[in-house]
Amino acid sequence: MVDLSPTARHTLHDGTTLPLVGFGTYELTGAEGVTAVRHALDAGYRLLDTAVSYRNETEVGRAVAASGLDREEVALVTKVPGRRHRSAVECVEESLRRLGTDHLDLVLVHWPNPSQGEYEYAWDGLVQARERGLTRSIGVSNFHPHHLDRVIRSVGVTPAVNQVEVHPSFSQAGLLAENARRGILTQAWSPLGKRQPRYTDTAVAAPAERLGVTPAQVVLRWHLQRGVLPLPKSATPERQRENLDLFGFSLSDDEVAAITDLTRPDGRLFGGDPDHHEEH
Ligand SMILES: NC(=O)c1ccc[n+]([C@@H]2O[C@H](COP(=O)([O-])OP(=O)(O)OC[C@H]3O[C@@H](n4cnc5c(N)ncnc54)[C@H](OP(=O)(O)O)[C@@H]3O)[C@@H](O)[C@H]2O)c1
Repeated sequence: MVDLSPTARHTLHDGTTLPLVGFGTYELTGAEGVTAVRHALDAGYRLLDTAVSYRNETEVGRAVAASGLDREEVALVTKVPGRRHRSAVECVEESLRRLGTDHLDLVLVHWPNPSQGEYEYAWDGLVQARERGLTRSIGVSNFHPHHLDRVIRSVGVTPAVNQVEVHPSFSQAGLLAENARRGILTQAWSPLGKRQPRYTDTAVAAPAERLGVTPAQVVLRWHLQRGVLPLPKSATPERQRENLDLFGFSLSDDEVAAITDLTRPDGRLFGGDPDHHEEH
């Protein structure tokens, strides 16, 4: 099992390190978005997950600047959208300008968009971006194993991260194992299950009761014990703190397995199967 002491970090296959928990910023826009991200930094988050498609890179950059934290203390992650697969390097340069920084910590190909058929160009572009020092690390998002193998074979570089949908209704045991087999860290998007959480299911509610923690904390701890890096989003300072307070308790192996078993074949939140769903 990974080291789950509060100061532990994941070490990616390229040597880059990341905190065990990140902060999701989707839907955090405008002045309220800056405030929410600033609160998250004050609460102790040191990994911010944004994307070109979220249209909030400027807000994320402003929050980091306003926090007074050293740039090196915060890991910044962004994603290249489908419409930029053939211009990924330029896309990263534009993200840097919006974020107000000279480097990213991690850039991901947001979706493979298979019908467009250009994700290998995007991956090759990210390899170039890393070689030029625009980002420390590079990875992908929403890739099935066959998408991974295709970019590994054609470009010759293995993604350091695969950020995918993982929550109790869609626990992705198979994909976690496939990522691990290739030395790829799994990050979980919608780690709480967004608007369809499983907080009242016994598998979640019973350990919460036993441990005196919230169901959301149980779900996030489940991710940590599976070696997954969760990216919970909250606009609420109290919940932001709650979602980082995961290191004073632990789940038994049986409790972890019971939450994993909540998975359903149709458990995706919006049917976003990367073989079919595309975002441009
Ligand atoms: N790579 C991709 O394709 C992709 C796709 C989707 C998302 N993402 C990333 O993943 C991040 C997280 O996903 P998400 O925002 O979809 O879903 P999520 O983090 O699973 O859930 C967020 C929802 O849960 C609520 N919440 C947060 N903490 C809570 C707590 N302790 N107790 C009860 N409710 C709580 C939030 O409400 P309040 O805000 O009101 O507190 C919000 O409505 C995104 O922000 C984004 O960075 C990536």
